[in-house]
Amino acid sequence: PPTKVRTICCIGAGYVGGPTCSVIALKCPHIKVIIVDVNPDRINAWNSDDLPVFEPGLDEIVKQCRGKNLFFSTDIDEAIRQSELVFVSVNTPTKTSGMGKGFAADLHYVEASTRRIASVATSSKIIVEKSTVPCRTAASMRTILDANSNSVDEDGSPISFQILSNPEFLAEGTAIRDLLNPDRVLIGSLDTKEGKMAAGALREIYENWVDGSKIYETGLWSSELSKLAANALLAQRISSINSLSAICEATGADVDEVAHACGLDKRIGDRFLKASVGFGGSCFQKDILNLVYLSESLGLKEVADYWQQVITMNEYSKSRFAKKVVQTLFNTITMKKVAVLGFAFKKDTGDTRESAAITLCRYFRQERALISIYDPKVSNNQIYLDMTEPGVIDDGAAVRSQVAICDNAEDACRDAEAVVICTEWDEFRQLDWQRIYGRMKKPAFVFDGRGITDANKLRSLGFRVHTVGKGP
Ligand code: NAD
Ligand code: UGA
Repeated sequence: PPTKVRTICCIGAGYVGGPTCSVIALKCPHIKVIIVDVNPDRINAWNSDDLPVFEPGLDEIVKQCRGKNLFFSTDIDEAIRQSELVFVSVNTPTKTSGMGKGFAADLHYVEASTRRIASVATSSKIIVEKSTVPCRTAASMRTILDANSNSVDEDGSPISFQILSNPEFLAEGTAIRDLLNPDRVLIGSLDTKEGKMAAGALREIYENWVDGSKIYETGLWSSELSKLAANALLAQRISSINSLSAICEATGADVDEVAHACGLDKRIGDRFLKASVGFGGSCFQKDILNLVYLSESLGLKEVADYWQQVITMNEYSKSRFAKKVVQTLFNTITMKKVAVLGFAFKKDTGDTRESAAITLCRYFRQERALISIYDPKVSNNQIYLDMTEPGVIDDGAAVRSQVAICDNAEDACRDAEAVVICTEWDEFRQLDWQRIYGRMKKPAFVFDGRGITDANKLRSLGFRVHTVGKGP
């Protein structure tokens, strides 16, 4: 395999490929980084002042490197040819049809990228799985590469491909911070001389800014599985605390106190124990379903059932919260105005994939509420798209008659009967609740799905408040 990397190609200019390879460009000025995508709109946006991904700190990095050693292009073949190392960072969504529908990862974008590399490569390359994939995907990639590649390069030497697994652990909203200072970088390779050499070449890139002790080399399959496992364990913590929040509400215990008391035990730790309306994001659910499918295909039914429960609990958290809203508003929200604050799946991102707000708003729509939504980063088009039921004729028009999108939180709350907080945006901590109260219908309700408001203060202003995991 190539031992010195001068040019990197990243296939997939999404939430992972874009920020990850921009940081590589920033920290490795001696390496040329070309990020490519089949979607020309995305590439145009990366080449404009209005980047397709919002991440604190990303704009500055792209501005600093673009046109110097960082390039965004739709010419995938040329970028592959030029590079010694190719990241495959394409989407791996849950399959929506066929075998494994609703569980298995759709690997056809990974396979298409692999075939592309095999057919256009004119020199040996290191191929790096950056996408989250099921365990043993690298074996399929190897078979495809071996069966489809040109056997010799321009000088007549045999072409070889080494596959590495290098999963990404960044979280949205803190992507740049996570990339600049990762807890660990995981590199999986085959336990062969060539595999270790390829891992060494990738390690060398990261060592430009990551301490060597944080770079952990494992076998390929451990690396692939560790990514699914890490997300499953993180999501499991949230479902665990959310299950306890239901007990808190029924007993008068306070979930924040319970989380803090448990988290003081160093073996448990205090992070990632914030009770919420439910977790969202493009990966937790997808990766757990993937793990469930993997377990089932291996004949491990009890293991599959165990992880499935994390998703079941998350669905329960969302529906339990929605029910609370309807029941508290005297069992009907038909034609009542409900303000929804926050639509992104967490703060500091414009991403709405699997956002709890979508599920809640769909419940509210079915109850024929009038919904007014405000989110500081999500575009109006995205909200309408997320609210439209796929396959329902003329649903777009119906959505627009039922859902209004506002420019600020106060407008969204005006004349509303209830405010529902779905995302923990910092600005929602500083709202002028007195003014909001004055302009709402009475009794005025606040349903805090993120535990970010001071419930006692709101109550003193006249609000009736429900917070996840806090008793009546
Ligand atoms: P994304 O949908 O934002 O980006 C993927 C991009 O790949 C899209 O722009 C798409 O057009 C492009 N693409 C698809 N097929 C292609 C092909 N054959 N050639 C060129 N481009 C192609 O997805 P993402 O959020 O960046 O996630 C990518 C992978 O990283 C997934 O496997 C995901 O599980 C994993 N991951 C995501 C996150 C996250 O926070 N979003 C974090 C860690 C890991
Ligand atoms: C998650 C992981 O944290 C990353 O390590 C991983 O790389 C990524 O998935 C991925 O593979 O895509 P992300 O989904 O971007 O990152 O964001 P998180 O901070 O993990 O939050 C996920 C969801 O859980 C959000 O809806 C968040 O609000 C919710 N959450 C998080 C809680 O409800 N409580 C918590 O204590 C923490």
